[in-house]
Amino acid sequence: MPRILKPKRRAIGNWKMNGLSANVDVAQEIAAGCAYLKVDVALCPPATLLGVMAQALAGTVVRSGGQDCHSAASGAHTGDIAAEMLSDCGATTVILGHSERRRDHGEKSPLIASKADAAARAGVVPIVCVGETEAEREAGRTLGVVRRQLRDSISESFDAGEAGERLVIAYEPVWAIGTGRTPTSPEIEAVHKALRQALKKRFGKAAKGISILYGGSVKASNAAEIFAIPNVDGALVGGASLSVKDFLPIVQALAEA
Ligand code: PGA
Repeated sequence: MPRILKPKRRAIGNWKMNGLSANVDVAQEIAAGCAYLKVDVALCPPATLLGVMAQALAGTVVRSGGQDCHSAASGAHTGDIAAEMLSDCGATTVILGHSERRRDHGEKSPLIASKADAAARAGVVPIVCVGETEAEREAGRTLGVVRRQLRDSISESFDAGEAGERLVIAYEPVWAIGTGRTPTSPEIEAVHKALRQALKKRFGKAAKGISILYGGSVKASNAAEIFAIPNVDGALVGGASLSVKDFLPIVQALAEA
């Protein structure tokens, strides 16, 4: 029987469409501050910075990741990036199905499932994002929405690994992203519990090892409270990951959780 590991504590920084080559220094400073913390940290810069960031982070504990990939390995897809190309640039993970891509690019869950398969094919761990809009929450549809997104954004044949190490899930309420607003702890707990149960049905014992991250206005001031919630294994951090002084305390809080 494979030993089922606890989910890894992970802090993932999503730089979104921010950062020029000069900002790679920030990544290096973050890496220096994380050196002795027992947290898996990855920074996901814009694709233009991936190569230079991977070089800057070589030999540190911080990894780099992409923010999206195409489902094909190569071909006539102007402007797109294959998972194999992310891997070639040193990325070990990729954010998929972020609500900003669902909104700006009309991405639907079945497409995200094919991208997750592509990431797996390239040996890159997908971070599959789910989350309800404010209207869906107000209509009492949160759990139904995230369960359906989870089901449809991961294909039937997806292999999460014996210990769940090949898949990460991020719960990001759309209305909490970049707004400074967060759900209450019981609200976050209810969603993470539902996600864990759904993963259990799908992946059996390996579900225990799949990290379920919370994302949406995570900051130094709310990190400890969020990380104390059952089934919260870390955070996907947007705005606060652009600054050393904002991001490091979050990683520290996770290391101490
Ligand atoms: P935020 O973004 O931390 O700036 O709210 C989170 C995300 O979109 O991943």
